[in-house]
Amino acid sequence: MNSTFHPPKTVDIVEVAPRDGFQSIHELLPTADKIHCIQTLIDSGITRIEIGSFVSSKAIPQMADIGDIVAAFSDHTGMRFSALVPNLKGADRALASGIKELVFVASVSETHNQSNVRQSVDSSLEGLKTIADRLRSEKDSVRLRLDLGTCFDCPYEGEIQWQQVDAVLGKARDICQGIELEVALCDTTGRATPYQVANHFTRLRERHGSPSLKWAFHGHDTFGMGVANALFAVQHGATTLDASAAGLGGCPFAPGATGNTATEDLIYALQGGHIETGVNLPLLLVAADAIAALPGGQTASHLRNVPRERMS
Ligand code: COA
Ligand code: ZN
Repeated sequence: MNSTFHPPKTVDIVEVAPRDGFQSIHELLPTADKIHCIQTLIDSGITRIEIGSFVSSKAIPQMADIGDIVAAFSDHTGMRFSALVPNLKGADRALASGIKELVFVASVSETHNQSNVRQSVDSSLEGLKTIADRLRSEKDSVRLRLDLGTCFDCPYEGEIQWQQVDAVLGKARDICQGIELEVALCDTTGRATPYQVANHFTRLRERHGSPSLKWAFHGHDTFGMGVANALFAVQHGATTLDASAAGLGGCPFAPGATGNTATEDLIYALQGGHIETGVNLPLLLVAADAIAALPGGQTASHLRNVPRERMS
């Protein structure tokens, strides 16, 4: 390996198939099938899972059973389960269910935020303030993650500059003062290139670098850049990567976007850099097969198409 190339020793993987993946499936999946898929992911060694979202069931009917799913895993003490919330109501529901990590979602682009959560970016940030205040009064420690959607490209407004991300992130950080934050730069449409990812992370870390702020990258693989984007994100400061087993998914409010980068493709690439994730690749492929077998899902994965005997 080139001596000037210094990959980190470890990267956190957040498996998002149960949220970003399941939400993309129109037909309602049986709760037991979702629980089975999540269990196979846990069996593969994944320790961080975005287990679903506490959103309006009119907006995303697939998430109506989120309470039952969280309850099914309430005794998994070694796991770090998170859930997406768009507002205080979602945060209250998530905390009542026992979730200890909230993922607050807001887009950088006004048009996408309107289409996704039916409000302006500033209204979303007001919602974030109510959640931050709630967390400050919470006696148990609850983690907060900020998913900044459309950081690189918006399906309605086109390319997004790092300065636009900076403006929203600056306001969010003011609101979250005193709270440790993980910020995910999300390539919602899967259109970013590795160089754009490197530039955003470099510029934004120059502006917002702080021990209380961790960086994550949430990529989709629509243009085939998912793994490359994730690796560039890691080389420029991301310590957490989102991925979806079997590449299941696609944002219902980002027309044309396909699923997240397949977790198995990403793990394969990270293993090549001797970057530890704790995930067992053959067992992850078992989980990916279970997820790909769900009716109505769109999947995209390179590794699942490689003959298994070539994996060892
Ligand atoms: N969980 C459950 N129900 C919720 C809710 C939540 N987090 N937030 C609002 N609701 C309910 C309200 O109580 C109200 O119910 P009612 O009609 O029975 O009175 C209804 O939803 C509408 O509430 P309102 O505040 O007017 O919301 P809205 O219709 O403007 O929708 C969101 C806003 C954010 C709730 C909705 O767009 C949403 O849930 N979006 C999620 C999108 C998503 O998950 N995208 C993919 C992830 S990036
Ligand atoms: Zn996504």
